[in-house]
Amino acid sequence: MRPVTRVVRHALVPALGIFVMASAICPFAAGAETGTSPSAIDDAAQRIATAFEEIQKAAETITDVATAVAANKVGQAADKVAAVASTTAAGMRKLTQPGLYDTIYARKSVRDFTDQPVTCEQLAELLRAAMAAPTAMDRRPWRFVVLTGRPAIDDLAKGLRSGGTVAKGQAVVVVCAEAENEQAAALPGMHILDAALASQNLLLAVEAEGLGAVWTAVWPMEAAIAHVRQTLGLPANVVPINVIPVGYPKGEFKPKDKWDPATIHWEKW
Ligand SMILES: Cc1cc2nc3c(=O)[nH]c(=O)nc-3n(C[C@H](O)[C@H](O)[C@H](O)COP(=O)(O)O)c2cc1C
Repeated sequence: MRPVTRVVRHALVPALGIFVMASAICPFAAGAETGTSPSAIDDAAQRIATAFEEIQKAAETITDVATAVAANKVGQAADKVAAVASTTAAGMRKLTQPGLYDTIYARKSVRDFTDQPVTCEQLAELLRAAMAAPTAMDRRPWRFVVLTGRPAIDDLAKGLRSGGTVAKGQAVVVVCAEAENEQAAALPGMHILDAALASQNLLLAVEAEGLGAVWTAVWPMEAAIAHVRQTLGLPANVVPINVIPVGYPKGEFKPKDKWDPATIHWEKW
């Protein structure tokens, strides 16, 4: 079998098949059935399309290799083979990497927002991502209060230290932790950690959606906890952890490079 035919049979046809299948799925319907985020499906379809382009480039180069070999230009052929290997590897990397690192490193606190509203679908995506976080004993003690209306957001913002920032949000997510009695006794504080992890997932999803947000603190400040509890009517066993205003960033906010090898102790402190 000629090299080009082999590539078409083994790489292009399956890649095209996967791409066509992925694009044919209605993202929302598929998400509802499988629990997979519609954004994740879009993301996967996009990555498959890009990988397909890379593999297509590799196939074109293989034709050049065959031409060079036929013309007895062995050195040129070897260079082209190396190029094929590298473009194919790049394509496969795009196929298998979910872009998570890009999102992690792009995340930053955003404290000012445009007037563009955040849709219910976007908020649902953020909450779905929040609920994908790990929790102790898989208890999932997170609870969320989502505010999208102006008087409600302003009332909540009024009593908070970062209320000015909160009031600028087009929507606000209050992440809470519900303590079950026996859990609270056996594992005190674990529900707070669980809600914090959900919050971090939510902040990453905000970045992935092209939105901005910032964690503004509520827990462990008693006065702030009391204000949020009273304003939102939270039950006594529900602790508000933070108030997260969400919207489209207004102005420039840059992620910080926090890599610091001095904070790492290998094997022993
Ligand atoms: C537990 C916690 C509490 C925070 N509280 C506030 C706050 O009350 N107000 C605020 O503007 N930002 C708050 N932040 C955001 C931090 O100031 C911000 O994450 C930090 O400066 C690092 O910047 P970055 O998020 O852009 O990487 C808080 C973040 C965390 C994790």
